Amino acid sequence: MLRSFFIALSTNRTLRSFSERSSVGRAMSSRFVAGMQVEEALDVAAKLNKEGIAVSLDSLGESVSTREEAEHSASIYYDLLEAIETRKLNANVSLKLTQMGMDFDPALAEEITAGIVARAAMAQSFVRIDMEGSGLTDATLSMTQRLFLRFPGRVGTVLQAYLFRTESDAEKLIAEGIRIRLCKGAYKEPPEIAFPAKADVDANYVKLMKRLVTSRVFCGIATHDEAIVDQLREFVVANGVPKSAFEFQMLYGIRRDLQRKLVKEGYGVRVYVPFGTEWFPYFMRRLAERPANVLFLAKNFFKS
Ligand code: FDA
Repeated sequence: MLRSFFIALSTNRTLRSFSERSSVGRAMSSRFVAGMQVEEALDVAAKLNKEGIAVSLDSLGESVSTREEAEHSASIYYDLLEAIETRKLNANVSLKLTQMGMDFDPALAEEITAGIVARAAMAQSFVRIDMEGSGLTDATLSMTQRLFLRFPGRVGTVLQAYLFRTESDAEKLIAEGIRIRLCKGAYKEPPEIAFPAKADVDANYVKLMKRLVTSRVFCGIATHDEAIVDQLREFVVANGVPKSAFEFQMLYGIRRDLQRKLVKEGYGVRVYVPFGTEWFPYFMRRLAERPANVLFLAKNFFKS
Protein backbone atom coordinates (compact mmCIF):
# COMPACT_ATOMS: atom_id res chain seq x y z
CA MET A 1 0.00 0.00 0.00
CA LEU A 2 2.81 2.40 0.91
CA ARG A 3 4.45 1.61 -2.43
CA SER A 4 1.32 2.77 -4.27
CA PHE A 5 1.08 5.84 -2.05
CA PHE A 6 4.61 7.05 -2.86
CA ILE A 7 4.24 6.22 -6.56
CA ALA A 8 1.03 8.29 -6.62
CA LEU A 9 2.84 11.17 -4.87
CA SER A 10 5.62 11.02 -7.48
CA THR A 11 3.21 12.43 -10.10
CA ASN A 12 1.68 15.15 -7.88
CA ARG A 13 2.70 18.41 -9.54
CA THR A 14 1.89 20.75 -6.65
CA LEU A 15 3.84 18.75 -4.11
CA ARG A 16 6.65 18.36 -6.63
CA SER A 17 7.02 22.05 -7.28
CA PHE A 18 6.80 22.92 -3.56
CA SER A 19 9.32 20.22 -2.52
CA GLU A 20 11.84 20.90 -5.28
CA ARG A 21 12.08 24.53 -4.17
CA SER A 22 12.35 23.82 -0.44
CA SER A 23 15.75 23.53 1.20
CA VAL A 24 14.47 20.77 3.53
CA GLY A 25 13.37 18.76 0.51
CA ARG A 26 16.73 19.22 -1.18
CA ALA A 27 18.57 18.16 1.97
CA MET A 28 16.44 15.00 2.23
CA SER A 29 16.94 14.14 -1.44
CA SER A 30 20.73 14.25 -1.09
CA ARG A 31 20.59 10.66 0.19
CA PHE A 32 19.82 9.54 -3.39
CA VAL A 33 20.66 12.57 -5.54
CA ALA A 34 24.28 13.52 -6.23
CA GLY A 35 23.70 17.28 -6.21
CA MET A 36 21.76 19.99 -7.97
CA GLN A 37 24.49 20.99 -10.46
CA VAL A 38 26.30 19.16 -13.28
CA GLU A 39 29.69 19.83 -11.64
CA GLU A 40 28.65 18.11 -8.42
CA ALA A 41 27.59 15.00 -10.31
CA LEU A 42 30.83 14.98 -12.30
CA ASP A 43 32.83 15.16 -9.06
CA VAL A 44 30.87 12.22 -7.65
CA ALA A 45 31.52 10.31 -10.88
CA ALA A 46 35.26 11.00 -10.66
CA LYS A 47 35.30 9.79 -7.06
CA LEU A 48 33.47 6.60 -7.92
CA ASN A 49 35.80 6.01 -10.87
CA LYS A 50 38.75 6.20 -8.46
CA GLU A 51 37.19 3.32 -6.55
CA GLY A 52 36.92 1.27 -9.74
CA ILE A 53 33.20 1.96 -10.22
CA ALA A 54 31.83 3.04 -13.61
CA VAL A 55 28.99 5.56 -13.74
CA SER A 56 25.84 6.37 -15.66
CA LEU A 57 24.96 10.05 -15.27
CA ASP A 58 21.31 10.99 -15.23
CA SER A 59 20.10 14.56 -15.41
CA LEU A 60 16.84 14.30 -13.49
CA GLY A 61 13.68 15.42 -15.22
CA GLU A 62 10.64 13.79 -16.77
CA SER A 63 7.28 14.59 -18.32
CA VAL A 64 8.25 17.95 -19.80
CA SER A 65 5.47 19.71 -21.69
CA THR A 66 7.16 22.20 -24.05
CA ARG A 67 9.79 22.10 -26.80
CA GLU A 68 11.90 24.60 -24.83
CA GLU A 69 11.98 22.33 -21.78
CA ALA A 70 12.89 19.33 -23.93
CA GLU A 71 15.69 21.25 -25.64
CA HIS A 72 16.94 22.47 -22.29
CA SER A 73 17.05 18.83 -21.04
CA ALA A 74 19.06 17.89 -24.12
CA SER A 75 21.52 20.74 -23.63
CA ILE A 76 22.46 19.33 -20.21
CA TYR A 77 23.24 15.97 -21.86
CA TYR A 78 25.49 17.69 -24.42
CA ASP A 79 27.37 19.34 -21.53
CA LEU A 80 27.63 16.01 -19.75
CA LEU A 81 29.02 14.19 -22.76
CA GLU A 82 31.57 16.91 -23.33
CA ALA A 83 32.63 16.80 -19.69
CA ILE A 84 32.88 12.99 -19.77
CA GLU A 85 35.35 13.38 -22.64
CA THR A 86 37.40 16.24 -21.19
CA ARG A 87 37.56 14.78 -17.69
CA LYS A 88 38.18 11.29 -19.14
CA LEU A 89 35.49 9.77 -16.96
CA ASN A 90 34.48 6.15 -17.11
CA ALA A 91 30.86 7.16 -17.58
CA ASN A 92 27.91 7.09 -19.93
CA VAL A 93 24.48 8.72 -19.68
CA SER A 94 20.93 7.62 -18.93
CA LEU A 95 17.88 9.59 -20.01
CA LYS A 96 14.11 9.41 -20.08
CA LEU A 97 12.10 9.95 -23.26
CA THR A 98 9.44 12.02 -21.45
CA GLN A 99 12.28 14.39 -20.60
CA MET A 100 12.81 14.86 -24.34
CA GLY A 101 9.18 15.61 -25.16
CA MET A 102 7.73 12.11 -25.65
CA ASP A 103 4.42 12.98 -23.93
CA PHE A 104 3.48 15.71 -26.40
CA ASP A 105 5.60 15.17 -29.54
CA PRO A 106 7.21 11.74 -30.07
CA ALA A 107 8.87 12.87 -33.31
CA LEU A 108 10.56 15.74 -31.45
CA ALA A 109 11.65 13.33 -28.69
CA GLU A 110 13.22 11.07 -31.31
CA GLU A 111 14.99 13.94 -33.05
CA ILE A 112 16.38 15.24 -29.75
CA THR A 113 17.41 11.80 -28.51
CA ALA A 114 19.10 11.01 -31.84
CA GLY A 115 21.16 14.19 -31.43
CA ILE A 116 22.30 13.07 -27.99
CA VAL A 117 23.15 9.57 -29.21
CA ALA A 118 25.12 11.06 -32.12
CA ARG A 119 27.09 13.19 -29.63
CA ALA A 120 27.68 10.12 -27.44
CA ALA A 121 28.93 8.20 -30.47
CA MET A 122 31.48 10.98 -31.15
CA ALA A 123 32.70 10.60 -27.56
CA GLN A 124 32.77 6.78 -27.89
CA SER A 125 30.15 6.78 -25.13
CA PHE A 126 26.72 5.24 -24.74
CA VAL A 127 23.15 6.35 -24.05
CA ARG A 128 20.82 4.24 -21.96
CA ILE A 129 17.15 5.00 -22.50
CA ASP A 130 15.46 4.39 -19.15
CA MET A 131 12.13 2.58 -19.16
CA GLU A 132 9.14 4.48 -17.80
CA GLY A 133 5.51 3.38 -17.26
CA SER A 134 3.96 0.66 -19.45
CA GLY A 135 2.16 3.21 -21.63
CA LEU A 136 5.59 3.96 -23.11
CA THR A 137 7.09 0.46 -23.38
CA ASP A 138 6.33 -0.07 -27.08
CA ALA A 139 7.41 3.43 -28.06
CA THR A 140 10.64 3.20 -26.04
CA LEU A 141 11.58 -0.15 -27.52
CA SER A 142 10.85 0.85 -31.09
CA MET A 143 12.72 4.13 -30.76
CA THR A 144 15.71 2.31 -29.28
CA GLN A 145 15.65 -0.15 -32.19
CA ARG A 146 15.57 2.65 -34.77
CA LEU A 147 18.37 4.59 -33.06
CA PHE A 148 20.45 1.43 -32.72
CA LEU A 149 20.28 0.96 -36.50
CA ARG A 150 21.63 4.49 -36.95
CA PHE A 151 24.20 4.30 -34.12
CA PRO A 152 25.09 0.64 -33.60
CA GLY A 153 26.39 -0.13 -30.12
CA ARG A 154 25.79 3.42 -28.86
CA VAL A 155 22.29 3.06 -27.44
CA GLY A 156 20.45 0.53 -25.32
CA THR A 157 17.43 0.39 -23.08
CA VAL A 158 15.92 -1.11 -19.94
CA LEU A 159 13.53 -4.03 -19.42
CA GLN A 160 11.41 -4.51 -16.30
CA ALA A 161 11.03 -8.00 -14.81
CA TYR A 162 7.57 -7.19 -13.41
CA LEU A 163 6.02 -7.07 -16.91
CA PHE A 164 4.70 -10.32 -18.45
CA ARG A 165 5.90 -9.19 -21.88
CA THR A 166 9.56 -8.78 -20.89
CA GLU A 167 10.73 -12.28 -21.81
CA SER A 168 9.60 -11.81 -25.39
CA ASP A 169 10.97 -8.23 -25.55
CA ALA A 170 14.32 -9.50 -24.30
CA GLU A 171 14.52 -12.08 -27.10
CA LYS A 172 13.85 -9.40 -29.72
CA LEU A 173 16.50 -7.02 -28.38
CA ILE A 174 19.06 -9.81 -27.96
CA ALA A 175 18.50 -10.91 -31.58
CA GLU A 176 19.37 -7.37 -32.69
CA GLY A 177 22.41 -7.12 -30.40
CA ILE A 178 20.89 -4.30 -28.31
CA ARG A 179 22.20 -3.97 -24.76
CA ILE A 180 19.63 -4.43 -22.01
CA ARG A 181 19.65 -3.19 -18.45
CA LEU A 182 17.43 -5.54 -16.45
CA CYS A 183 15.58 -4.06 -13.47
CA LYS A 184 12.54 -5.15 -11.47
CA GLY A 185 10.42 -2.09 -12.39
CA ALA A 186 9.59 1.05 -10.41
CA TYR A 187 6.12 2.11 -11.60
CA LYS A 188 2.57 1.13 -10.65
CA GLU A 189 1.28 -1.41 -13.17
CA PRO A 190 -2.05 -3.29 -13.27
CA PRO A 191 -2.22 -7.07 -12.62
CA GLU A 192 -3.37 -7.66 -16.23
CA ILE A 193 0.14 -6.88 -17.47
CA ALA A 194 2.50 -7.23 -14.50
CA PHE A 195 3.17 -9.69 -11.69
CA PRO A 196 1.47 -8.29 -8.58
CA ALA A 197 3.48 -10.47 -6.14
CA LYS A 198 7.09 -9.54 -5.38
CA ALA A 199 8.09 -13.22 -5.24
CA ASP A 200 6.97 -13.65 -8.85
CA VAL A 201 8.83 -10.52 -9.97
CA ASP A 202 11.98 -11.82 -8.27
CA ALA A 203 11.61 -15.28 -9.88
CA ASN A 204 11.12 -13.72 -13.31
CA TYR A 205 14.13 -11.47 -12.69
CA VAL A 206 16.35 -14.48 -11.99
CA LYS A 207 15.11 -16.33 -15.07
CA LEU A 208 15.68 -13.32 -17.33
CA MET A 209 19.03 -12.49 -15.77
CA LYS A 210 20.34 -16.00 -16.56
CA ARG A 211 19.15 -15.63 -20.15
CA LEU A 212 20.80 -12.22 -20.53
CA VAL A 213 24.22 -13.10 -19.15
CA THR A 214 24.44 -16.08 -21.51
CA SER A 215 23.11 -14.16 -24.52
CA ARG A 216 26.49 -12.88 -25.74
CA VAL A 217 25.11 -9.34 -25.69
CA PHE A 218 26.67 -7.36 -22.83
CA CYS A 219 24.03 -6.56 -20.23
CA GLY A 220 23.46 -4.62 -17.00
CA ILE A 221 22.11 -6.50 -14.00
CA ALA A 222 20.47 -3.65 -12.11
CA THR A 223 19.48 -4.69 -8.62
CA HIS A 224 20.42 -4.25 -4.97
CA ASP A 225 18.87 -7.59 -4.07
CA GLU A 226 21.76 -9.46 -2.50
CA ALA A 227 20.04 -12.85 -2.79
CA ILE A 228 19.79 -12.31 -6.56
CA VAL A 229 23.37 -11.05 -6.75
CA ASP A 230 24.48 -14.23 -4.97
CA GLN A 231 22.47 -16.40 -7.34
CA LEU A 232 24.19 -14.77 -10.29
CA ARG A 233 27.64 -15.22 -8.77
CA GLU A 234 26.92 -18.95 -8.35
CA PHE A 235 25.37 -19.22 -11.80
CA VAL A 236 28.32 -17.68 -13.63
CA VAL A 237 30.80 -19.94 -11.87
CA ALA A 238 28.72 -23.08 -12.52
CA ASN A 239 28.20 -22.18 -16.18
CA GLY A 240 31.58 -20.69 -17.07
CA VAL A 241 30.10 -17.27 -17.88
CA PRO A 242 32.92 -14.71 -18.04
CA LYS A 243 32.68 -11.67 -15.76
CA SER A 244 33.05 -9.55 -18.90
CA ALA A 245 29.59 -10.67 -20.10
CA PHE A 246 27.76 -8.28 -17.78
CA GLU A 247 28.05 -5.61 -15.13
CA PHE A 248 26.15 -5.05 -11.92
CA GLN A 249 24.33 -1.73 -11.78
CA MET A 250 23.11 0.03 -8.65
CA LEU A 251 21.69 3.39 -7.72
CA TYR A 252 23.71 6.16 -6.10
CA GLY A 253 23.43 5.96 -2.32
CA ILE A 254 22.06 2.41 -2.17
CA ARG A 255 24.06 -0.61 -0.95
CA ARG A 256 27.45 1.10 -1.22
CA ASP A 257 28.89 -1.81 0.78
CA LEU A 258 27.75 -4.31 -1.84
CA GLN A 259 29.03 -2.14 -4.71
CA ARG A 260 32.50 -2.08 -3.20
CA LYS A 261 32.49 -5.77 -2.35
CA LEU A 262 31.65 -6.69 -5.95
CA VAL A 263 34.41 -4.44 -7.29
CA LYS A 264 36.90 -6.17 -4.98
CA GLU A 265 35.76 -9.52 -6.37
CA GLY A 266 36.53 -8.32 -9.89
CA TYR A 267 32.99 -7.73 -11.16
CA GLY A 268 32.12 -4.74 -13.27
CA VAL A 269 29.97 -2.32 -11.28
CA ARG A 270 28.24 0.80 -12.61
CA VAL A 271 26.46 3.29 -10.39
CA TYR A 272 23.56 5.35 -11.70
CA VAL A 273 24.23 8.90 -10.57
CA PRO A 274 21.18 11.21 -10.76
CA PHE A 275 21.47 14.92 -10.23
CA GLY A 276 19.55 18.13 -10.81
CA THR A 277 16.82 20.26 -9.37
CA GLU A 278 13.98 18.06 -10.65
CA TRP A 279 14.54 15.28 -8.17
CA PHE A 280 11.05 14.82 -6.72
CA PRO A 281 9.56 11.93 -8.81
CA TYR A 282 12.86 10.00 -8.66
CA PHE A 283 13.06 10.48 -4.90
CA MET A 284 9.46 9.34 -4.38
CA ARG A 285 10.11 6.14 -6.35
CA ARG A 286 13.09 5.41 -4.07
CA LEU A 287 10.82 5.83 -1.04
CA ALA A 288 8.25 3.56 -2.70
CA GLU A 289 10.83 0.80 -3.04
CA ARG A 290 11.66 0.94 0.64
CA PRO A 291 9.22 2.89 2.79
CA ALA A 292 11.60 2.34 5.75
CA ASN A 293 13.69 5.04 4.03
CA VAL A 294 11.20 7.62 5.29
CA LEU A 295 12.01 6.78 8.91
CA PHE A 296 15.70 6.59 8.15
CA LEU A 297 15.69 10.01 6.49
CA ALA A 298 13.56 11.59 9.19
CA LYS A 299 15.85 10.27 11.95
CA ASN A 300 18.96 11.58 10.21
CA PHE A 301 17.34 14.88 9.41
CA PHE A 302 16.43 15.59 13.04
CA LYS A 303 19.85 14.39 14.23
CA SER A 304 21.72 16.88 12.03
P1 FDA B 1 14.24 -4.86 -4.09
O1 FDA B 1 13.28 -3.72 -4.24
O2 FDA B 1 13.69 -6.21 -3.89
O3 FDA B 1 15.27 -4.51 -2.97
C1 FDA B 1 16.25 -5.41 -2.54
C2 FDA B 1 17.08 -4.75 -1.45
O4 FDA B 1 17.79 -3.65 -2.00
C3 FDA B 1 16.27 -4.14 -0.31
O5 FDA B 1 15.99 -5.10 0.66
C4 FDA B 1 17.20 -3.05 0.16
O6 FDA B 1 18.23 -3.59 0.95
C5 FDA B 1 17.82 -2.56 -1.12
N1 FDA B 1 17.04 -1.45 -1.70
C6 FDA B 1 16.27 -1.48 -2.81
N2 FDA B 1 15.74 -0.28 -3.08
C7 FDA B 1 16.16 0.53 -2.10
C8 FDA B 1 15.96 1.91 -1.81
N3 FDA B 1 15.21 2.68 -2.57
N4 FDA B 1 16.56 2.42 -0.71
C9 FDA B 1 17.36 1.66 0.09
N5 FDA B 1 17.59 0.36 -0.14
C10 FDA B 1 17.00 -0.21 -1.21
N6 FDA B 1 13.22 1.05 -12.84
C11 FDA B 1 12.46 1.31 -13.94
O7 FDA B 1 11.25 1.07 -13.91
N7 FDA B 1 13.04 1.84 -15.06
C12 FDA B 1 14.38 2.09 -15.15
O8 FDA B 1 14.85 2.55 -16.18
C13 FDA B 1 15.18 1.81 -14.01
N8 FDA B 1 16.53 2.03 -14.02
C14 FDA B 1 17.30 1.56 -12.98
C15 FDA B 1 18.70 1.64 -13.04
C16 FDA B 1 19.48 1.07 -12.05
C17 FDA B 1 20.96 1.13 -12.17
C18 FDA B 1 18.85 0.44 -10.94
C19 FDA B 1 19.66 -0.21 -9.86
C20 FDA B 1 17.48 0.41 -10.84
C21 FDA B 1 16.70 0.98 -11.83
N9 FDA B 1 15.31 0.97 -11.74
C22 FDA B 1 14.56 1.28 -12.86
C23 FDA B 1 14.64 0.70 -10.44
C24 FDA B 1 14.25 -0.76 -10.28
O9 FDA B 1 13.20 -1.08 -11.14
C25 FDA B 1 13.82 -1.07 -8.84
O10 FDA B 1 12.68 -0.31 -8.52
C26 FDA B 1 14.89 -0.82 -7.80
O11 FDA B 1 16.15 -1.16 -8.26
C27 FDA B 1 14.62 -1.64 -6.51
O12 FDA B 1 14.63 -3.00 -6.82
P2 FDA B 1 15.82 -3.99 -6.38
O13 FDA B 1 16.13 -4.82 -7.58
O14 FDA B 1 16.94 -3.26 -5.83
O15 FDA B 1 15.16 -4.99 -5.36
